[in-house]
Amino acid sequence: MKTIQDIINHKGGSVWDVRPEVSVYEALLLMKEQGIGALLVINDDKEVAGIFSERDYARRMMGDTGADTRKTPVSELMTKNVQGIMAHRTIEECMALMTDKRVRHLPVFEEDELVGMVSIGDVVKAVIHDQAFLIDQLEHYITGSF
Ligand SMILES: NC(=O)c1ccc[n+]([C@@H]2O[C@H](COP(=O)([O-])OP(=O)(O)OC[C@H]3O[C@@H](n4cnc5c(N)ncnc54)[C@H](O)[C@@H]3O)[C@@H](O)[C@H]2O)c1
Repeated sequence: MKTIQDIINHKGGSVWDVRPEVSVYEALLLMKEQGIGALLVINDDKEVAGIFSERDYARRMMGDTGADTRKTPVSELMTKNVQGIMAHRTIEECMALMTDKRVRHLPVFEEDELVGMVSIGDVVKAVIHDQAFLIDQLEHYITGSF
């Protein structure tokens, strides 16, 4: 059974992060440049202080017409209660956690160490890849073309 570690092995363990005092504008710029939908927020003690996602921006800043993205720090909009997942967990467990907690990004940990970030797109991609492999195997089995 595939685990989150398999996804991390494939996509790499680097995690894009920002400090809590970084402006929402700078954070959105970094997300745009890197083609990612979330940033981990790391404090001075190198601890996870929160996670800032496109959804946090859309939901918490939307309607606040006076808000200035250049003056608002990510710490004001980020989600503070960060849900993570252990690298040895299965992809099915990850999907269940994402659905249950309604999150699209999960920082990945091994013991207490941050080892990567997994998104809903990574999980869907891994599931589709597994299904394609299974279909291929079954086709070969049926046609006897091994
Ligand atoms: N081509 C690929 O390998 C790939 C992989 C995942 C998602 N996607 C596509 O991207 C779109 C949006 O994807 P999504 O909703 O999963 O979220 P997303 O746009 O945040 O994720 C895109 C990729 O960036 C990675 N990522 C996101 N935040 C990160 C961070 N802070 N540090 C390190 N890596 C980070 C994700 O793990 C994922 O691999 C979808 O259309 C999806 O199909 C493509």
